[in-house]
Amino acid sequence: MTAPRVYDLVVVGATGYTGTLTADHIAQFLPTNTKWAIAGRSMGRLEELAAKLSKLSPDRAQPVVETVDLSDERALAQLVGKVKVCISVVTYWQVGEKVVKSCIESGTDYVDAPWLGYGVSFCPETNDITPDDSNGDIYGLKGWIDKYHEQAVAKGVTVSIPLKALAALAHGDRLKRVWFTLTTSHQLIHACAVFTAPHDLLTLLLARELRSRASVQARKVVVAVTDMPTEISGGTAESIMHGATSSTQDVAAELRNPWLLSPVAGDTTGSRDQRDFFGMCSEDGLGLLSDTSYSAAQDRHIVHRTWGLLSGSDNDYGSRFRYREYTRVESRTSGIVKYLNMLLTSCILRFAFLRAFAKRFAFPAPGEGPDVEQSRLDRFTIEAVAVGELDDSINDEAAPRAYGRFTFHGGGACLAQGAAALVSGSRDDVASGRQGGMLTPAFLGTALLERLCKVGGGVEVRML
Ligand SMILES: NC(=O)c1ccc[n+]([C@@H]2O[C@H](COP(=O)([O-])OP(=O)(O)OC[C@H]3O[C@@H](n4cnc5c(N)ncnc54)[C@H](OP(=O)(O)O)[C@@H]3O)[C@@H](O)[C@H]2O)c1
Repeated sequence: MTAPRVYDLVVVGATGYTGTLTADHIAQFLPTNTKWAIAGRSMGRLEELAAKLSKLSPDRAQPVVETVDLSDERALAQLVGKVKVCISVVTYWQVGEKVVKSCIESGTDYVDAPWLGYGVSFCPETNDITPDDSNGDIYGLKGWIDKYHEQAVAKGVTVSIPLKALAALAHGDRLKRVWFTLTTSHQLIHACAVFTAPHDLLTLLLARELRSRASVQARKVVVAVTDMPTEISGGTAESIMHGATSSTQDVAAELRNPWLLSPVAGDTTGSRDQRDFFGMCSEDGLGLLSDTSYSAAQDRHIVHRTWGLLSGSDNDYGSRFRYREYTRVESRTSGIVKYLNMLLTSCILRFAFLRAFAKRFAFPAPGEGPDVEQSRLDRFTIEAVAVGELDDSINDEAAPRAYGRFTFHGGGACLAQGAAALVSGSRDDVASGRQGGMLTPAFLGTALLERLCKVGGGVEVRML
């Protein structure tokens, strides 16, 4: 018999940097009657956090403190069996799988935010230097998907009613609560963080815009990161260091496959973006772009997984779809500076003595990160252009184009609001016919988008 779900949410790893930010957002923005818990292995630090949260937001249901060491499988199972949605913000490459496994066994929905990679790789055949994901948690995520996706699907019995709320929101119409889902599906939403969720959602919106306004599928979506956090947390630094030391050449080669996380392989015959020696190119509607977005590789993997999971559905992006991500730069000079900076960081990660130096003097320690007070105020922006598919032509100039802009709250907003969307059970038709599984932020569709907009975000989508 399953235990009653006494909590709506639990934050596992709440004492860490990302965990604290997420708890902070829950305390400030989620409904005051949300029943929730903060979990970790140190009672003292959890109580300290609980005291801060209650000062921050005294008039709400305060979180219950739950101590759990993830090496104790039974204790972890007891905890996640009591909650509707588990937010995991532990050090993923060390202990993340324990939380995933436990959630699947107990049929508990789940969100996380693995740091999927950072670095550059050099291709001697093309002389291209490109962002690369041989660091970070992505190979671990691939392993989780291989092991657990089918198990998670087997737990789900989704019956979604497809209704079109997303388009209304994108066009600024008053959003009606028109979606609802008859569901007990079991969903694990990966990479539901500021570096990835907005990109995945905006891509979904733009593909829909092209389909509904121009009756074409998307051949590519290009995202320009215009304003994003540049400082990393201690846990992210640890993940990057771990990736830099553990990745073999074979793993690195596998990780360069852009369809690695997709259930189906994508098209590889399309044209490449023409970048110059310093990784710069331009795109109509976005301006001058530099191939230095440090979330580009991870986002490509996640968005391509969304593409693969949606292929053949009403939301199919198109068979030749590809995702690209750049940083927007104001001038060639700033593009060159960014590029050299990225190369330098990559070199530091390649050599053990430089890594040791960076760990000691440049990177934050576990539990630390950018200023929490500042993170509360942070707002970030991405812009994007989707180019439609015109028969067999790859002529970008003649193809219909859609433009999108998404501004969103930093800190723990995406994780907390993603979890809240799962608790409420409201999803739009993205999840139609999908019986749970190891999914991506786009599968929360309108439910997440609307929540991010309510806490200070904004989205605009139009045809160019
Ligand atoms: N994608 C993104 O946008 C993004 C952004 C930031 C971070 N991240 C990822 O999020 C993860 C956490 O980062 P962070 O900076 O928050 O790390 P952190 O501050 O070091 O926190 C890690 C948390 O994991 C907990 N933990 C580790 N081992 C445990 C165990 N055996 N039992 C119970 N709890 C355990 C720690 O508990 P203790 O406090 O007891 O040690 C701590 O609460 C990293 O993998 C990082 O890459 C992703």
